[in-house]
Amino acid sequence: MRVVSGIQPTGKPHLGNYLGAIRNYVKLQDDALAANGECFIFIADLHAISMPHDPVELHNSTLELVATLVACGLDTSKTVLFNQAQVPAHAELQWLLSGTARMGWLSRMTQFKDKSGKNREGASIALFTYPVLQAADVLLYQATHVPVGEDQKQHLELARDIAQKFNNDFASEDDPVFTLPEPYIPPEAARIMSLRDGTSKMSKSDPSDMSRINLSDDADTIMKKVKKAKTDPEPLPPEAAGLEDRPEAKNLVAIYGAFSGKSVDEVLAEYGGAGFGTFKPALGELMVETLSPITARFNELRADRELLDAILARGAARARDMSGPTLSRAYAALGLVRG
Ligand code: TYM
Repeated sequence: MRVVSGIQPTGKPHLGNYLGAIRNYVKLQDDALAANGECFIFIADLHAISMPHDPVELHNSTLELVATLVACGLDTSKTVLFNQAQVPAHAELQWLLSGTARMGWLSRMTQFKDKSGKNREGASIALFTYPVLQAADVLLYQATHVPVGEDQKQHLELARDIAQKFNNDFASEDDPVFTLPEPYIPPEAARIMSLRDGTSKMSKSDPSDMSRINLSDDADTIMKKVKKAKTDPEPLPPEAAGLEDRPEAKNLVAIYGAFSGKSVDEVLAEYGGAGFGTFKPALGELMVETLSPITARFNELRADRELLDAILARGAARARDMSGPTLSRAYAALGLVRG
C-alpha cells in the first residue's frame, strides 16, 4: 500500500481540505503502516506557481502548511512529509510524461477551464500542464491510494491514462514502469460546500472569508461563521430525501455527520424537526471541539521555523531516495542516455 497526496500552499487551509483530504491522510498513514506500506504527503508548491502569486507569501504559507498538517495529526515518523521544490524528480518526471500526455486530454480538464476563465490566452502554460505534474507526483512513488476530495478525481483519472499509455508504449505488459493509482474519496465529505452558497465548493479562492471555516479560525470566529451561514427558513427534515432541494441545509448536515461520525439519516433522526436556531450552535460546538486543539497546536508549531525547516529537509531526503528508482526507469524506458 502506497499512499500519496498533495495540497497547495495557496491561501489558508479550510474545512473542505480537512474533511475531504487531510483527515484521510492521517487515517491512511496508520493503514499504510499496518500494511507495511508507506505514506507520502507533500506541499504542492510547484503547482502554486501556476497562478499569479506573491513569493514571500508562498514561502510563508508553505511552512505554515507543514505546521497545519502536523497539527492535524500527520506524524513524521510514519509519513514522509516534504515539499515538491526540494525533490527535483517531480519536475523531471513531469517533462518525461509530457511526451505521453495528449493536448486533447488536458483540454478537457474542468479545473483548467474554471481557473483560466474567459482569459484562456492569458493563462500560464503551467496552469495547462498542471495535471501532468500531478500525475508525476503520484506515479513517481508507485501510489496505490490517493486521498483527495472529489474535485481532484478528474486529475487522477488523467494520471491513470498517462500511466497506462506510457506503460503500453514503453514497457512490457508483465513489467510496467508505473502503477495505476486509485483515488480515495471520502463519501461523507467528498465536496464540502461554501457557507454562503450551497451550490459552490468551499474554496481558498472565494473572496468572502465568511464562506469557509479556516483551520486557523478561533472558536468565536467559527461560531459566528456557522451562525451566519446561509440557510432556508424550514426546519430540518426527518430523513435525507428531504434535503434534496436544500443545498445549504444538506451541506451543514453533511458537515455535522462528518464530524460526529454519524450518517445523514442518524443526524436527522436527532435533529429532524429542529430549526437552524438549535442546529447551528450544536454544529458550531462540534466543530470547535475538534478544531480547537488543532488550532492551538498550529499556533505553537508555526513559530518554530527551525523545526518546520528540519521536517521538510528530512522528508525531502527520504522522498529523493524513494523516487530515484522509478525516475531512472522512466528515463531508461524512453531511451534517454544518462551515462
Ligand atoms: P488543493 O490544494 O486545492 O486541495 C487539497 C485537498 O483538499 C481537497 N478539497 C476539498 N475536499 C472536499 N471539499 C472541498 N470543498 C475541498 N476543497 C479542497 C482537494 O480535493 C485536495 O485533495 N491539485 C491538488 C494538489 C495536488 C495533488 C497532487 C493532490 C498536487 N499534486 C497529487 C493529489 C495527488 C490541489 O490543488 O488540491
